[in-house]
Amino acid sequence: MSSVRTAVLVSGGGTNLQALIDAKNAGELPHVQFCAVISSRPDAYALIRGEKAGIPVYTAERQGKSQETFEKEILSILEMESIQMIILAGFMSILSEDFVRRYPRRILNVHPALLPAFGGKGYYGLRVHEAALARGVKVTGATVHYVNEIPDGGEIILQKAVNVEPDDTPQTLQRRVMEQAEWIILPQAAEISAKEILNQLKPEL
Ligand code: GAR
Repeated sequence: MSSVRTAVLVSGGGTNLQALIDAKNAGELPHVQFCAVISSRPDAYALIRGEKAGIPVYTAERQGKSQETFEKEILSILEMESIQMIILAGFMSILSEDFVRRYPRRILNVHPALLPAFGGKGYYGLRVHEAALARGVKVTGATVHYVNEIPDGGEIILQKAVNVEPDDTPQTLQRRVMEQAEWIILPQAAEISAKEILNQLKPEL
């Protein structure tokens, strides 16, 4: 069965990467093949998760260089591994318009809120949950969407709602959103997108 060569871009703990690896091992991602984990930080625990799963791991450090040089490093890895689909899984850098235009409907991102709420520049990681609690929302969740030139603005693939509890802290809410939404819908969206890519690549009969 053919599958889509996929890179996962990370910056931190990599629990979403782990959810993808676990789904693959459980046979839930027949059309997705993980060929690279690329981290913007050399100390990201996600790199160890990738290594343990036998996926080639790379570091393209963000710090200390221009956006252009950073993206050139990523692109050279993507080209070397013939990558067809990119998953941003806790990747904490915004990619340039030039970069995202190279991969239309080929880059997925998981965001820890129900977009368009609590999205865009400055909304990442724990900050998203701090903002949701400050606003007093009773329901939040996660979104997986295609990446375009607008931060968190691309077409939505899947969303899942999660209740906010009265005594939540940003940390408890983050954990619940991960467990009840992100780790479920990210693998599902990856398989949906991979199938779409394969359909597009299929030669006309
Ligand atoms: C996740 O909650 C992810 O949705 C969020 O960062 C966390 C990374 O955790 N991403 C963003 O905020 C992107 N805007 P992980 O490294 O354990 O997967």
